[in-house]
Amino acid sequence: MMLTAATTDLFAFDAPALKELAATQPGPFFAYDLGAARERYRRLRALLPARVRLAYAVKSNPGLPLVETFAGEGAWFDCASAGEVSAVLAAGGTGTSMVFAGPAKSERDLQAALFAGARVQVDGIEDVARLHALHTGERPLPVSVRVNPAQGVSEAASIIGGGGPSAFGVDEEALEDFVRQAARHDRVQITGLQVFAASNELDAGRLLANHRTTLGIGRRLQELLGRELDLLDLGGGLGVRYEVDRPSLDVRALGAGLGRVLEENPWFTGELLLEPGRWLSAPTGVYCAHVVRTKVSRGERFVMLEGGINHLLRPLLTGQSFPTLALRPGVGVLGRETALTTLAGPLCTSLDRVGTGDLPVDLQPGDLVVFGQAGAYASTQAMTHFLSHPAPEQVWVDAG
Ligand SMILES: Cc1ncc(COP(=O)(O)O)c(C=O)c1O
Repeated sequence: MMLTAATTDLFAFDAPALKELAATQPGPFFAYDLGAARERYRRLRALLPARVRLAYAVKSNPGLPLVETFAGEGAWFDCASAGEVSAVLAAGGTGTSMVFAGPAKSERDLQAALFAGARVQVDGIEDVARLHALHTGERPLPVSVRVNPAQGVSEAASIIGGGGPSAFGVDEEALEDFVRQAARHDRVQITGLQVFAASNELDAGRLLANHRTTLGIGRRLQELLGRELDLLDLGGGLGVRYEVDRPSLDVRALGAGLGRVLEENPWFTGELLLEPGRWLSAPTGVYCAHVVRTKVSRGERFVMLEGGINHLLRPLLTGQSFPTLALRPGVGVLGRETALTTLAGPLCTSLDRVGTGDLPVDLQPGDLVVFGQAGAYASTQAMTHFLSHPAPEQVWVDAG
């Protein structure tokens, strides 16, 4: 792929910046542009109704400089482990601007969330019972319940999807029973709802359909509880494109649509939360690995890189490649003549494939393959320790 105006949201850096970065990094590395992160946060913030709060989903990229950047913008945070709680606190975020989720929260996780003052999202009656036992405050602990909706749309239902069986949340059909059981635990009070039924969704209309469903569930929950909800959490799922020929998510339409959803639901007077991870962090990062060798095996072209699924696992998990381009250090982005290529890594397993795509035919050892959209679900989602290669460098750039 060549770098053009149409690819600026795919690769965080332009060709001169990539050349400069490559010159300083002898091994595989991730590089992130904090200025781009700030700009994306501000753009999304400006397009959403003022009542909607943004909680950055830390799991998409828990890098401290990035979390600090979002904390500096006044973001809330979505955490899912004691480690993520610590990262947010270390980055200057506060526990009272934090939601805490997870389908199997350990004792340590719950303690960390409670100690920080985060809003815990319970995934079932067991969570309620455990919090009832742990909470020592005088007033009941306000918590949100995660509901697994009966209907939901998602591009990648294999990751997070609505409509089917799920490890997450209380099934919508079981909500009445859950509310009845939760009422027996008087040290805990259900005052909020979280629904998250989409992943990497590029269609604003489909996201809004999910949000309408959530408001509908919220209304029913409020009736079942007999008290007003103070927080409705619409989850994440705002998508980014991994292919240049796909349209980007129309965040302006999403913002305007959310405004309409709020107008349609005057009964809800609490706070509305969106928890985007990928949309905020993916376009801020690239992953770069040098070519070690190339080969053709029975008609299939392979390029073997210094880094593989030990640095980038998502293509193997989802079957979706990151956008790639090739760079010759000292020269620049490589030419237009391309051929279908399988990118393989250094690990001793045929599972070690990090993508398939059109790459320049003249790629040679020492060239760099640059993976765009690698600021999310990349560095910390990989099998870093497998085969004991060094962890990739993390380079943080803040031109601002
Ligand atoms: C509870 C919760 N919130 C938010 C997110 C972020 O999702 P995304 O990165 O798709 O916006 C996730 C991702 O798994 C999640 O589990």
